[in-house]
Amino acid sequence: MTPEELFDIEIQLLMEGVYQVYGYDFREYAESSLRRRLSQWLAGSGCATLSLAQSQILRDRQFFDTLLRGITVNVSEMFRDPAFFKAIREQVVPYLKTYPFVKIWLAGCATGEEAYSMAILLLEEGLKGRFRIYATDINEEVIRKAQDGIYPLQELQHFTRNYQHAGGTGSFSDYYTARYNHAILAPSLRENIVFAAHNLAVDTDFGEMNMILCRNVMIYFKQSLKERVLGLFDSSLLPGGFLCLGTKESLEHRRISDRYDTVAARMPIYRKRYEKK
Ligand SMILES: C[S@@+](CC[C@H](N)C(=O)[O-])C[C@H]1O[C@@H](n2cnc3c(N)ncnc32)[C@H](O)[C@@H]1O
Repeated sequence: MTPEELFDIEIQLLMEGVYQVYGYDFREYAESSLRRRLSQWLAGSGCATLSLAQSQILRDRQFFDTLLRGITVNVSEMFRDPAFFKAIREQVVPYLKTYPFVKIWLAGCATGEEAYSMAILLLEEGLKGRFRIYATDINEEVIRKAQDGIYPLQELQHFTRNYQHAGGTGSFSDYYTARYNHAILAPSLRENIVFAAHNLAVDTDFGEMNMILCRNVMIYFKQSLKERVLGLFDSSLLPGGFLCLGTKESLEHRRISDRYDTVAARMPIYRKRYEKK
């Protein structure tokens, strides 16, 4: 048996144990990225093998939390993929404006940048007081950071460029205050966002959403888990609701795809059809 094969067995055993003890289900995460993340984590863990680390992982919550941080990829940015946000502004918002109130589920929100970007966009489009964003993630530590809405100042230049390319109609600097080397987002942006823990692999759906965004999350999942999660979204979305995926993701060949129409060319933005009577 090669060391790689042995490592894969250790991963399987550990993921089973983690699921039994903590309820976090990584058993259907894509092998290649899980392998890469776990070997990076192991290198910094002080343990020679995953089997040796396993005993402590299953008994020591804090040690497990370091593993959780190692497994989940939490990188995000404001107005990530600006063309996507431009398409939302131009092709989805006109529909949203016709609703009295808009409920949005943003699954896999990481440190919150995407949720704040959506809030800015909807405020600029005149939807103040008419929307709520439920931003969820498996990782409670990133949710706490998301709630703070504080980002390193050096990232703001990039965020500002994204905002402009995404069709921002104001001045991005109006949305934050610079303090030392951090940017603190305006607390008013948080008024319409509820941050909460939710695990797409094991938790149930969120009802009656007008829009769901889940970008750059399912790329880490195996096909079976992707299908589960898309089923969850399908049952959470009202007819006529919008489903938005990451730029490298699509509904092609998915079980739910025949109930959705593509909204924007070359963008993974879909609209759930109204059932025929
Ligand atoms: C790469 S980030 C994407 C952030 C943001 N959506 C974006 O596109 O910039 C992926 C996020 O998915 C979260 N995640 C991974 N597995 C999850 C699961 N089973 N349930 C909910 N969130 C999950 C991770 O914790 C991480 O914050």
